[in-house]
Amino acid sequence: MEKIVSLCKRRGFIFQSSEIYGGLNGVWDYGPLGTELKNNLKQYWWRVIVRERDDVVGLDGAILTHPAVLKASGHVDTFTDPMVDCRTCKARLRSDQLAEKNGVKQCPNCGGKDLTEARPFNLMFQTQMGASADPASIAYLRPETAQSIFVQFKNVLDVSRKKLPFGIAQIGKAFRNEINPRNFTFRSREFEQMELEYFCRPEQGMDLLAYWLKERIKFYEEIGISRKRLHILDVPEKERAFYSKGTFDIEYEFPFGRQELEGVAYRTDYDLQQHIKTSGKVLDYFDEETKERVVPHVVEPSAGVDRAVLALICDAYDEDSAPDEKGKMETRVVMRFHPRMAPIKCAVFPLLRNKEALVAKAREVQALLRPHMNVFYDEGSAIGRRYRRQDEIGTPFGVTIDFETLGEKGEELRDTVTLRDRDSMKQERVAIKDLPEIISSRIR
Ligand code: GAP
Repeated sequence: MEKIVSLCKRRGFIFQSSEIYGGLNGVWDYGPLGTELKNNLKQYWWRVIVRERDDVVGLDGAILTHPAVLKASGHVDTFTDPMVDCRTCKARLRSDQLAEKNGVKQCPNCGGKDLTEARPFNLMFQTQMGASADPASIAYLRPETAQSIFVQFKNVLDVSRKKLPFGIAQIGKAFRNEINPRNFTFRSREFEQMELEYFCRPEQGMDLLAYWLKERIKFYEEIGISRKRLHILDVPEKERAFYSKGTFDIEYEFPFGRQELEGVAYRTDYDLQQHIKTSGKVLDYFDEETKERVVPHVVEPSAGVDRAVLALICDAYDEDSAPDEKGKMETRVVMRFHPRMAPIKCAVFPLLRNKEALVAKAREVQALLRPHMNVFYDEGSAIGRRYRRQDEIGTPFGVTIDFETLGEKGEELRDTVTLRDRDSMKQERVAIKDLPEIISSRIR
């Protein structure tokens, strides 16, 4: 894991937030490459969940949330983790993450056994709205994106005129005051979720749970996560939320252990019923065929953006060997991102930087590709070193402009370039005019 964390910082995927002031615990900033990777992930999720389907529409709800919403959902009263204090080193710990030796609970920091009783700690971040500081001005930073979907259910249904089953999808920030943020970005206090609330008739719930579990596994495979590192946990009834009739956790084998990437849960009609009860408003669906009003049930695939990004990074990291400038084999660090996810799709290199005609042609190729994909231009240092730098950040394609391109080795090669594949390191000669389509077809 250290190698991955250090590469993330060195190459600009992920930085500690507020680092120059000592860092803010559990909060992370994404650097230039991390931002691209995260955007590619979110865009692909949006593409397959919303744009390529007739039955799902989107929502972009507010982060600041009315306390009544979170009172109705149960978050104000029960969104807690059990917390204990270590009286020896003063650490605050989640009681379910304590170390245990010979049946005795211990502080994982100092080994101390003098621990307080566990007490519930609410994970929500509370803030004040407006200038007065009375209890009526309390608002919360949302702990999940789902609640605005339930609260806006009727408005979205009225404008979209969808028939059951249909879904409302959202990508956005969520905040939890985790007692013990850890494992790099895995457990953060500020993170992003990609959530779908898929509304259906009660009798469709269990089948749709199975359907969405399959769809979501397919999604992780399509973004390049290896199937053998993905696991499905059928959450036993006693560990599920009391209103859930079935929940599956999709887990990934991180270097620090097998951990949850996403939950796929059949939440029945719990959320809508709670908001109906608390708000007194009608949040139901009128069935034109049966002329009946029903409160829809919901199946929810809820994924963490940051966890999926971390899984992409862990899964892509690889070391192999490649020849250096003198043909001697050396270790090559290569991020084997699926081309669809790779932050930079193609690097463009003039063979030599002091040959004006090569540089001009390379700039032309860069301009040709730019409208289609994220391109990086690099003319510094030897070509082999430039390839290595791109391998380390997972750029799947490299285009080199050489003397053949200029027509100096025969007219038939004029305006052709070498296209190098990151994984096989093989090069093919292709015409410049064909590059946009060749590369686009491989990154879609
Ligand atoms: N609406 C349901 C819900 O929020 P959850 O299991 O609490 O369910 C869903 O969260 C997903 O959000 C998790 O599977 C995980 O990927 C992500 N997530 C939750 N807490 C997180 C945290 N502290 N840091 C990063 N991601 C988190």
